[in-house]
Amino acid sequence: RIVEVNLETRLAGVELGPGHRVEAWTYDGGLPGPLIRVNVGDRLIVHYRNSLPEASTIHWHGIRVPIEMDGVPGISQPPVAQGESFTYDFIVPDAGLYWYHPHVMSAAQVGFGVYGPLLVEDPSEKVGTTDQLVIVLSDIGIHEHGQLEDPESGGTTGMAFGREGNFVLTNGHLGTVGQILARSGAPQRWRILNAAKSRYFSLDLEGQEFLKIGADGGIQEYPVATTSIVLGPAERADVIVRPTGEPGSTLPVRSYVFNRGYGSVEFRPAEELLFTITFTGDPAYSGPPLPEIRRSITPYSPAGATPIRMALTLDQLLDGTFQYGINNRPFWEAPPFEAKLGETQVWTLVNETAWSHPFHLHGFFFLETDEHGTPLRPLIWKDTLDVPFKETRYIIVNFPDRPGEWMIHCHILDHVDGGLMGVVNVGLPPSEKGKHRHLAHPHDFKY
Ligand code: C2O
Ligand code: CU
Repeated sequence: RIVEVNLETRLAGVELGPGHRVEAWTYDGGLPGPLIRVNVGDRLIVHYRNSLPEASTIHWHGIRVPIEMDGVPGISQPPVAQGESFTYDFIVPDAGLYWYHPHVMSAAQVGFGVYGPLLVEDPSEKVGTTDQLVIVLSDIGIHEHGQLEDPESGGTTGMAFGREGNFVLTNGHLGTVGQILARSGAPQRWRILNAAKSRYFSLDLEGQEFLKIGADGGIQEYPVATTSIVLGPAERADVIVRPTGEPGSTLPVRSYVFNRGYGSVEFRPAEELLFTITFTGDPAYSGPPLPEIRRSITPYSPAGATPIRMALTLDQLLDGTFQYGINNRPFWEAPPFEAKLGETQVWTLVNETAWSHPFHLHGFFFLETDEHGTPLRPLIWKDTLDVPFKETRYIIVNFPDRPGEWMIHCHILDHVDGGLMGVVNVGLPPSEKGKHRHLAHPHDFKY
């Protein structure tokens, strides 16, 4: 099956809630951009046109695309200048909730509203729910007079912290606007994406349970019940909720402030309302229990895996400015990491900084492991993993196909500007390597 869509990046007035209009940067005039829905195995063709005042691209976050479709300017494609077009065309190989966003000036463009969800469904997946919601969480920075916050505010100190917007949005609306109706106890499937460029969300249902059934790369090995769902930027969660309440009563869905490092919890509201559930007058749901939701995942084996160490670092330069890097080298100075086709690697991600970093690998899923490279249970395919401040995380990854220069970076997009990005050369002969280097300096180009 072929799904063909047009997408245009352009400026548009959007209403976040009563009295809050802003001239945002959008896909197709919406914030977020349109929900693209396909089935696993479909071919997706996107005719993209850029009508922003600057160049852009589309990166298909989490999708195992061919390198030419990965949307990284200067590496996988030329940037798409204002008024130009580009056709993305690829097969969608994995079910799950993904998303699309620019990879040019991404801190600015994503912060201004340029992102949208891509839902890849597997019709054979049976999770026992009839209602499904796609929930895009984000934020946007707006001044008193209604104009968008300067994406460079606070200089490299603002960059080092990661700039959060002052308005929290659920599917592009303020929390006071969002309302859903629910029958008490009826199971709903929520597909949640954090599309904010710096903000973490810690979801709470007043202590009611979330059954987490999946994450970035689809359904996980087995479900886990929890009362809070934490999502760093770019992470996704697939959860089943069965909210209960008296007929006519309401239940707020909130996000609690999350400690992502130095200064991230002080002087800010303890909680933000995301939306409200209102219970209908129907008698409480008494349908069948949920089916067993399991997926058999064959883990990679750490035997013979190549160990790679990546320290996530922050240095203060002689002029007082801050620079992030991997192993103390910012993107524009760092040699690429190397992987052979078919190679398995265990990466040790050491966060030496005072802020957490949601670490993202393009084009391939990985599994989180213990320090010996043994995958943690339940097995969950991830493309973005939070590495908390001053802590270490381990992942195992394999590169079976699709040679190319694949990006790794923190998904706090200000940190990308600050240098926290790198490249993995997967299966490339020496003559093919490093094509990006001439574009890599921040004074030439921003990702
Ligand atoms: Cu959403 Cu380079 O990533
Ligand atoms: Cu970061």
